[in-house]
Amino acid sequence: MHPKMLAIEAADILGVSVQAIHKQLKSKKLAYNKLRNRVYFEYETAIKMFAPYKQPCKVVVFVLVKGGVGKSTLCRETAIRATLMGKKVLVIEIDHQGNLTKSFGINANDYPVLIDLLDDSLIKITNSTVNVLPGLDILPSRYDNSVLDNFIMLKQVPLQKVLKSKVDPLRSAYDLILIDCPPSLGQSISAAVLTSDMVVLPTTPCDFSDSGIDITVNEINRMCNDHDMPKIPMKIILNQFDNREKDSRDTYSDLIKHHQYGEMMFSGYIRKCKEIEKYRRRKSTVFDSTASTAGREDIDTFTRELLEMHNLKSNHIVSHFTNPEMIKGY
Ligand SMILES: Nc1ncnc2c1ncn2[C@@H]1O[C@H](COP(=O)(O)OP(=O)(O)O)[C@@H](O)[C@H]1O
Ligand SMILES: [Mg+2]
Repeated sequence: MHPKMLAIEAADILGVSVQAIHKQLKSKKLAYNKLRNRVYFEYETAIKMFAPYKQPCKVVVFVLVKGGVGKSTLCRETAIRATLMGKKVLVIEIDHQGNLTKSFGINANDYPVLIDLLDDSLIKITNSTVNVLPGLDILPSRYDNSVLDNFIMLKQVPLQKVLKSKVDPLRSAYDLILIDCPPSLGQSISAAVLTSDMVVLPTTPCDFSDSGIDITVNEINRMCNDHDMPKIPMKIILNQFDNREKDSRDTYSDLIKHHQYGEMMFSGYIRKCKEIEKYRRRKSTVFDSTASTAGREDIDTFTRELLEMHNLKSNHIVSHFTNPEMIKGY
């Protein structure tokens, strides 16, 4: 895998001209390449290009009680896209099916997984992550994680501490930590939610009563209440959107008009895109190619919004970054 950030995309993110990006690449002697006349760069250059936009680490959990809505897909593609914005990313898979782990070509039998870390305090999470790409590590998962819920319940480990105590020490080593959950609402998912700064609920076009959003949102709110915790921000992303299908248009319109969910929506949606499926099968990513695809565009927009890098030109956002002085250089 060689995920690529196009110069033209970097220009859009940073709110500068493509010529300004080319100038930066040359004047700072940053590594870049050309494919079909399109200039692109990879993680090492991205770190330098986006250095002024360093933010505190954010832990985001992908949850929905329903399967097949794109939790693992969005987790994976967002993680890869974030590395191309210079972020050091960790993905923690707690789904025992290990789909995300396998999609990176990793055999989880070779490594410790979350249940091993909980069961044996001598196994450290820092020694258990596997590097899959420049800037991207994963804590893999396998079927042994299917007993996580029972383990947490039987050992009576406090839910708000069980995962948090493992993840919090990693915040200084990563810019972004994404947790991919199985399609349920058991103890391990509660532990993941109570560890996170934000919950992302992916959903697909369908009859609203069948979306799984109601039960997931209610359960997360109840859990925060029970643990005397402030409400964790939750955001909904509509995935597999197809403008030609009535179901898609109706679901999107129902969601943005919804009295509770309207304001929880990401500003866009992720279109149904055959390249997403094609690249996943090849254990690759939509960002490997330099071609413009719906998947590439939409995941880019989604990642930028998630990282609050969607409007870097606006003063509001710029004021949040640690070193706004450097931004003036563009
Ligand atoms: N936007 C999309 N366009 C096309 N296929 C998609 C898209 N999002 C997900 N998929 C496909 O849908 C299937 C289910 O996605 P997955 O991420 O495994 O869901 P979940 O993790 O919620 O169970 C996978 O085969 C994936 O490749
Ligand atoms: Mg999944």
